Amino acid sequence: MLTENLSKEVELSRINIFDNNHDFYSSKLKKLFQSHGYINYKASVVDIESKLIISNEFRKLEKDPFSPPNTQRFRRYGNALILPWEKEKKPIWLPTTKNNEGTELSGYDQGNNNPEHGSIRYFNALSEQVKRSNYLNKIIIEDYNLTFGLDEYYLPIYVGIHFVKLTSTCEQSLGISSPDCFHQDGEPFTFAHLFYRSNNIIGGENYIAHPSERNKRLEDVNSANIYSQFTLKNISDSFAVHDSSVCHYVSPIKKIKNDQFNIPGERWMILIDYSLTKQKI
Ligand SMILES: [Fe+2]
Repeated sequence: MLTENLSKEVELSRINIFDNNHDFYSSKLKKLFQSHGYINYKASVVDIESKLIISNEFRKLEKDPFSPPNTQRFRRYGNALILPWEKEKKPIWLPTTKNNEGTELSGYDQGNNNPEHGSIRYFNALSEQVKRSNYLNKIIIEDYNLTFGLDEYYLPIYVGIHFVKLTSTCEQSLGISSPDCFHQDGEPFTFAHLFYRSNNIIGGENYIAHPSERNKRLEDVNSANIYSQFTLKNISDSFAVHDSSVCHYVSPIKKIKNDQFNIPGERWMILIDYSLTKQKI
């Protein structure tokens, strides 16, 4: 049963790893991640300047051109490399490409892991300003340091950075993530950081389950196979998955009925994934 799983679960949440005793909490969290295949935790506090830059970026996100019309999904994407052998690691941002209108794009290839999308997708690129922001560069390295098994790799590690905004303007218009089922992303590790959640929504509940529940909708999942269920509420509330160990799902967001101000419900997420690169001959 879900409740039994929840009660058995190690209390991972609210471990504030980076702002008290960084090394101690980081190594503790990494061990939990390795043994459970997922963690639910609090990432670093966002500095004021980065908060302004990143908030500005989220306000400008373009509609996800691959999302169905009823999903209310907006996104930008950026990609970078990390060199595992470097002592002072920092993301090396990859160049963007331009479409015929001169709009900058970054390509995202999820292989066969998204049942809704089979091939490479080009999204609007993250701005140069946000790619220079302290917080983004910092969490890319902090997240990388929580991964395991990538550090001895002899080639660069590929990092995908997604800014995803879901909106809901009324009860009938849901903000829906892709894919809308339990899934694995394909990349060996994915980290998800809440940046903002308006207080006029319900939903956006995260689920972590046994990999056998992959491709199932919430109502079809065997509840005994759900390891954890939680909702990210405050800035820096985060979770991470080791992709082959678990599958995951987030439910749609829905604006609540009695919202007295007519402002849309929103959930802003920064998703960061890590994968190996390969020599092509
Ligand atoms: Fe996912």
